[in-house]
Amino acid sequence: MHDPYKRAVAVVFAFVLSLSPLAEVYAASPEPVEAEHGMVVTAQHLASDIGVDVLKKGGNAVDAAIAVGYALAVAYPTAGNIGGGGFMTIRLKDGKTTFLDFRERAPRASTRTMYLDDKGNPVKGLSTDGYLAVGVPGSVLGFETARTRYGTKSREELMEPAIKLARDGFVLEEGDIASLADGAKKLAKDPAAAAIFFKPDGKPYALGETLVQADLAASLSSISQQGPDAFYKGPIADAIVKASQDGKGILASQDFEQYDVRELEPIKCNYRGYDIFSSPPPSSGGVIICEILNVLEGYPISYLGYGSADTVHVMIEAMRHAYVDRNTALGDPDFVENPIGKLLDKRYAKEIREQISPFKAGVSQELMPKGFGESTETTHYSIIDDEGNAVAVTYTLNGSFGAGVVAPGTGILLNNEMDDFTAKPGVPNLYGLVQGEANAIAPGKTPLSSMSPTIIAKDDKPFMVIGSPGGARIITITLEAIINVIDHGMDIQEAIDAPRIHHQWLPDKVYMEPYALSPDTRRLLAGMGHDIDVDERWTIWGKAAGILVGGKSLADMEQANSEEAGSGRYYGAIDSRAASGAARGY
Ligand code: GLY
Repeated sequence: MHDPYKRAVAVVFAFVLSLSPLAEVYAASPEPVEAEHGMVVTAQHLASDIGVDVLKKGGNAVDAAIAVGYALAVAYPTAGNIGGGGFMTIRLKDGKTTFLDFRERAPRASTRTMYLDDKGNPVKGLSTDGYLAVGVPGSVLGFETARTRYGTKSREELMEPAIKLARDGFVLEEGDIASLADGAKKLAKDPAAAAIFFKPDGKPYALGETLVQADLAASLSSISQQGPDAFYKGPIADAIVKASQDGKGILASQDFEQYDVRELEPIKCNYRGYDIFSSPPPSSGGVIICEILNVLEGYPISYLGYGSADTVHVMIEAMRHAYVDRNTALGDPDFVENPIGKLLDKRYAKEIREQISPFKAGVSQELMPKGFGESTETTHYSIIDDEGNAVAVTYTLNGSFGAGVVAPGTGILLNNEMDDFTAKPGVPNLYGLVQGEANAIAPGKTPLSSMSPTIIAKDDKPFMVIGSPGGARIITITLEAIINVIDHGMDIQEAIDAPRIHHQWLPDKVYMEPYALSPDTRRLLAGMGHDIDVDERWTIWGKAAGILVGGKSLADMEQANSEEAGSGRYYGAIDSRAASGAARGY
């Protein structure tokens, strides 16, 4: 289909034929994990085991999410945390949906120019390394808020497995060793971090050795016994504030005392009959996923096919337009007016489609508005219980092992979330994101995130739980898993494992995972004007964790009565890119 006229005809025909049955696409993936009563999917198998144990003992999905959150803080220190923050999307069995924002806040002493030199240029490393990069952590209060509002179990019961994991240690497997090796350079610079993540002789831990975190066990024990005050008002806060002062940081006791969790309405949109619930600002995730889905809904993606030049072209263009809005219009809702109504309006999606040529790539510079990220070591987990309560959590230290600092005596790794703010409008951050004023630094403000813990319902029943790490790519990773299931008919494991593409407006490039596009597809796209780069950094493409409810795939659900249909109720999949992860069900 080299002839542009023929392509246009095909697109028009495709519209007409958009009621065609789901094209079945089979990717090379193992079978998803099947279970009847509950499913927990995390990036660390020990945390998945702990979550399933909570469900087996009668805890609900929120209880399991709290136990998993603390367990990952021990067993997945690259991103699991109590020194960072995140988001929890909850859909209860009665259909109520809600969202907890426990992301970091800028310290009170922060200023909009704090990462700039005398000439007004960003100073490399200032917003990413050491104490000046640290935002006020939210995970401990986030988990406690979730527990008191929606959980059923005691804090002590939910924290006990994590305390044991830290106190007795856990055996390091290949994925754990790879992760520690990845962070070694950063961790070696901070004596308190090095004392934990290197052996007493200063050598790195080896496969099969046990990592014990005694200080972290003590911190977790005091939080378990005394509640969040142990973290925000007691010796832990004091130790972090002191270490910050010693390390040229600006954290103060008041920052900890005044930290609060926000309970917000999730972003909601409907894509081809499926209700999507995802993260509202201060995350851009839900808004931008919905904006892209609204644009794509106008194209017969299923008919155009997975990985075809036509499908990929409209995906890229929808991403290009939506990331302009992400990077320029969105910010902390307590500080800026987010134009959510406009961005989620299907008429706005139609306006965007009208700007998309079927023959030609758009030009990002031409979309520059009047006004005016890449570490990937966030982590996402998905949980559903026997009653159908579903929880999606994405939380993070931002960069791998955060700012790489541990306040002596606490065992707690601290985040470098301040880098998610706009240090200087127009200058790329850690994720390569070029952002604007809406995300400028201000005291008490939360930096804009891309984290997208998402729950999808169909006919008022849970259908899918999904999310991923991946910095600025979280949005497109989550989006692609959704359309792989809904449009391309993949099962949840295939949908997550399928190679990915990404565009984020600036730089004006299409990034593709190796093998995502065939050579002739690339030629077709290049002929339309797309500049495509193969991005071979496997760590940058996320580690999605998903659950599908009611069948292995849409086709499986449609044939529910046939002999080939799976018998399970829940299907879980951890990304094949997540070396130490596991989907566990019962
Ligand atoms: N720190 C990554 C994000 O929140 O998007």
